[in-house]
Amino acid sequence: MRIFLDTANIDQIKKAVKMGVISGVTTNPSLVAKENTADYETVVKTICGIVNGPDSSVSAEVLSEDAESMIEEGRIKASWAPNVAVKIPSTAAGLEAISTLSKEKIKINMTLCFSVNQAILGARAGTTFVSPFVGRLDDIGHDGMQLIGDIVTVFDHYKLPTQVIAASIRNPLHCVTAAKVGAHIATVPYSVLMQMINHPLTDIGISRFLDDWKKVSQK
Ligand code: E4P
Repeated sequence: MRIFLDTANIDQIKKAVKMGVISGVTTNPSLVAKENTADYETVVKTICGIVNGPDSSVSAEVLSEDAESMIEEGRIKASWAPNVAVKIPSTAAGLEAISTLSKEKIKINMTLCFSVNQAILGARAGTTFVSPFVGRLDDIGHDGMQLIGDIVTVFDHYKLPTQVIAASIRNPLHCVTAAKVGAHIATVPYSVLMQMINHPLTDIGISRFLDDWKKVSQK
């Protein structure tokens, strides 16, 4: 499973890239607004310059609601950098936009996906990625991770090339389950990435090794 960072915070992205563990970033209007900038283009171009490996992907969301405007906006956002994936919502207008843009070889991340049916339709329309929102489903008492598993099963069954991004990840256990059910990618907040790394036994082990080493080196 590949790991993307779900943030528009440049410092966090730089730190995660230095560790060599992320190959993509997903942004959305809320995440960009949180960084207190209205300049989506500058943010996305900066991120694309930092996360720029051969298989990298940086998602930038459209803000339009009708198909024609989404298509226009999608073309513009895709022109910002070669590794941009245009994020388009799982709506009828979104499907129309995905269908047009995917034929132009523009990479798409179909977002705000909450059902297997939406995922199937996105794949048929030609989306590169589909992002089921696990945490938001859990929040309303549904099993978000079950949806990830169901979509992976259906895509495998029909050999559909669309990749599943487990999105709206809230904790490290979500990442483990997403990997077990076969999600291609998990997009995680920086705090969850840190939780994936940290383990108290690792910290205890390091300090014990260092204490023991000090004892012999003082002899
Ligand atoms: C994914 O692409 C979305 O940006 C994100 O995962 C949404 O997460 P949230 O439900 O925590 O806002």
